[in-house]
Parts: sequence; structure tokens; C-alpha cells
Amino acid sequence: MSEEKWQTSITEIGPGKIRVRGYDIVEMMDKLSFAQAIFLILRGELPDEKQARMMEAILVSSIDHGATPPSVLGARTVMSGGNSLNAAVAGGVLVIGDTHGGAIEQSARIIQELALKEGSVEDLAAQLVADMRAAKKRMPGFGHRLHKTDPRTVKLFEIAATLDYSGRHTELARAIEAELEKASGRRLPINVDGAIAAVISDMGFDWRLGKGFFMISRVPGLIAHTYEEMTTQRPMRQLGNRNFEYTGPEARTID
Ligand SMILES: CC(C)(COP(=O)(O)OP(=O)(O)OC[C@H]1O[C@@H](n2cnc3c(N)ncnc32)[C@H](O)[C@@H]1OP(=O)(O)O)[C@@H](O)C(=O)NCCC(=O)NCCS
Repeated sequence: MSEEKWQTSITEIGPGKIRVRGYDIVEMMDKLSFAQAIFLILRGELPDEKQARMMEAILVSSIDHGATPPSVLGARTVMSGGNSLNAAVAGGVLVIGDTHGGAIEQSARIIQELALKEGSVEDLAAQLVADMRAAKKRMPGFGHRLHKTDPRTVKLFEIAATLDYSGRHTELARAIEAELEKASGRRLPINVDGAIAAVISDMGFDWRLGKGFFMISRVPGLIAHTYEEMTTQRPMRQLGNRNFEYTGPEARTID
């Protein structure tokens, strides 16, 4: 009885043969940048010049953001506990979630669903913000602890505009930013996650790849931090915010 085969359309291998989406890896090594190869493996086709340029900018934008982001603290903490590079980087990747890096996924989902609806971007944004505020939810991809205007957003949108990737999704993101400020009286800028979400949506990527973009971009940064922790810091040093107070029960005994 023959076993039923499952299918994959990504890479074909055989003795002396490796073809990614049909292209020989050796030819790819000669002719493609890393960003072009990433586009090919995710989308199945080679990027044109505009897609390749946009992809480069997206992947560079999130390579690192200093020693404070939760994923870096996660990776450094695992390293500091006496683990290997792969365990520490995996620890950092596990910290990526809906409020850190992973905001790309949720932001792209919301924007892509909204873009399908009839109506002006202003009206759609106003309704979305009103619904989110009523549900006491935060809009993923907006707000930043440090930046009043995220310089990465400005540059990504500037490049996107020159490449004709400023479509309905980017317009919606801008309208949501304006509406959030109007409704809350607080400036909640489109952060790099929100900008990537808008641009990859205008490029036609499925929102479910959102966290993938952040991981591909940030893993080199996590490796650099882990390596620095390994080679320059004492084991089990004090990492993280120790400015806390105990609010549990007073000392007690078990009778
Ligand atoms: C990134 C983030 C954690 C920074 O937050 P912060 O500057 O430290 O601000 P706080 O968490 O103290 O929130 C301050 C106020 O702004 C509001 N706020 C912050 N981000 C908001 C958002 N994206 N949507 C709606 N309201 C938001 C909070 O509800 C809070 O309001 P309140 O004082 O009435 O309770 C926050 O903006 C956020 O959660 N954004 C969404 C997730 C995201 O995009 N993450 C990727 C970051 S690159």
C-alpha cells in the first residue's frame, strides 16, 4: 500500500540540486540580495525592482532598537543564565508578541479588513477608533514610549511614496493616527510596526506574515546582543527593572 504524499512548493532538493521556488540556489547566490531571496521564498516569485527596494528598507528598519526592548532583555537574560546562543536567541524571539514586534500582524489584519469596506478612509478610521475606545482596546501599531514621531515610519512612508506603495492601507493608517489624536487628545504616532503593517498590506502581503517580517529583521540584532552579553558581561548579572515594591501579605506562619 503506497503512503499518501504531502506537498510542499517551496524548495526542491536532490543530490547536488537545491531549487528554491524553482530557482537554483547557486544562481540565486550570484544574482540576488538577501532581501530579494526573502521576497522570493515568502511570495513564490522574484520581486521587481520596486518590491526589492521596499523589502530592503522594511528589513533594515527593525534590525535593532537598543538594549531596552523586551525581546533583547529576554535574550540577554537567557544568555546571562548560562545558556547557549541558540537558546538565548529563541528566548528573545519568544518575547515577540502582540505588543512588541508582533503588532505588525494585528495592525495589518485590522487595516486589511478595513480596506475591504466601502467608505472614505476618514469615516472608516473614525468608526474603528470609536469602536476600539468603546471596547477599551489599543490600536496595534500606534504609540511609542520614546519617539513622538518614529523616524523609521517617516522614512518607510517616504520610500513607499516614491515606489507607489502608498495605497489605501497607508492612507487608512494615517487617518487612524489623526483620529486617535482627535479622540484621545494624545499624539499616538504610527510606530515602525504600524508603518510596516501598512506598507506590506499595500504590497499585497497576507497579514499572517506580519510577525515573520519582524523576526527576519530583528534576529540579527538579537544575535548581536546575545553575543555581546556572552563575551562582555558577567554571568547572572542584574538585568531588568528592579524599581518595584512588594504588595503581598505580611510575613505569616503555617500552623
Ligand atoms: C507602544 C506602547 C506600549 C507605548 O506605550 P506608552 O507610551 O508607554 O503609553 P502607556 O502604555 O503609558 O499609555 C498611555 C495612554 O495612551 C493610550 N495608548 C497608548 N497606545 C495606544 C494605542 N496604540 N491605541 C490607543 N490608546 C493608546 C493608553 O491607553 C493610555 O491611555 P490612558 O492614560 O487613558 O490609560 C503603546 O503605545 C501600545 O501599547 N501600542 C500598541 C502596541 C504597539 O504598537 N506596539 C509596538 C511598539 S513599536
